[in-house]
Amino acid sequence: MSGKEEAKSGIKRKNTGKGGHDDKHSAPSGQGNICVVCRFRPLNQNELNHGGSNVCADFHPNKKSVTIVTEGDGVTNKNEFTFDRVFDINSSQIEVYNQAAKPIIESVMEGFNGTVFAYGQTGSGKTFTMQGPDIEDIESQGIVPRMVRTVFNRIENSSENIEFTVKVSMMEIYMEKV
Ligand SMILES: Nc1ncnc2c1ncn2[C@@H]1O[C@H](COP(=O)(O)OP(=O)(O)OP(=O)(O)O)[C@@H](O)[C@H]1O
Ligand SMILES: [Mg+2]
Repeated sequence: MSGKEEAKSGIKRKNTGKGGHDDKHSAPSGQGNICVVCRFRPLNQNELNHGGSNVCADFHPNKKSVTIVTEGDGVTNKNEFTFDRVFDINSSQIEVYNQAAKPIIESVMEGFNGTVFAYGQTGSGKTFTMQGPDIEDIESQGIVPRMVRTVFNRIENSSENIEFTVKVSMMEIYMEKV
């Protein structure tokens, strides 16, 4: 197996109003309350050095399903997984942001609670996706700097009669300790 799964971003959207998704209080994204996307990263140098040649995944044209192909004992196994969206190894940071995070920020700016989180095994690309290799670089910056920029752009373009309070806190769970 030469491919490696990247971060899976679980996006949970919580409606602060009463009623269900079709209710007038619902978040307006039209994507439901929870959206799960899966991103694959390209092979790294280490994997290439160990004989990896291509990612062991077949990406479906519908961009929602992926088939993982594994071989062992002369048998080829294929397992298909379906998500709200699958991002292949050529996906860009902006593409991931627009699909997986921007709708949450838009809902937050309308008063809904929202969460974006990434999980995946070590080295799978969580930090690359959430933070980016260079947060100052407009092309390669990840979800967090893009979200922050979107929030402040929205505030700047809002009516002067609306008061916003922005609070930032941070915690890291590392080795199962907060
Ligand atoms: N989409 C991508 N395109 C190119 N390189 C990537 C991509 N995603 C990850 N990488 C590279 O893969 C390596 C591992 O990624 P990253 O550090 O983001 O993993 P991680 O999931 O945060 O790991 P850890 O759990 O150890 O913190 C890094 O060198 C990163 O630059
Ligand atoms: Mg990391």
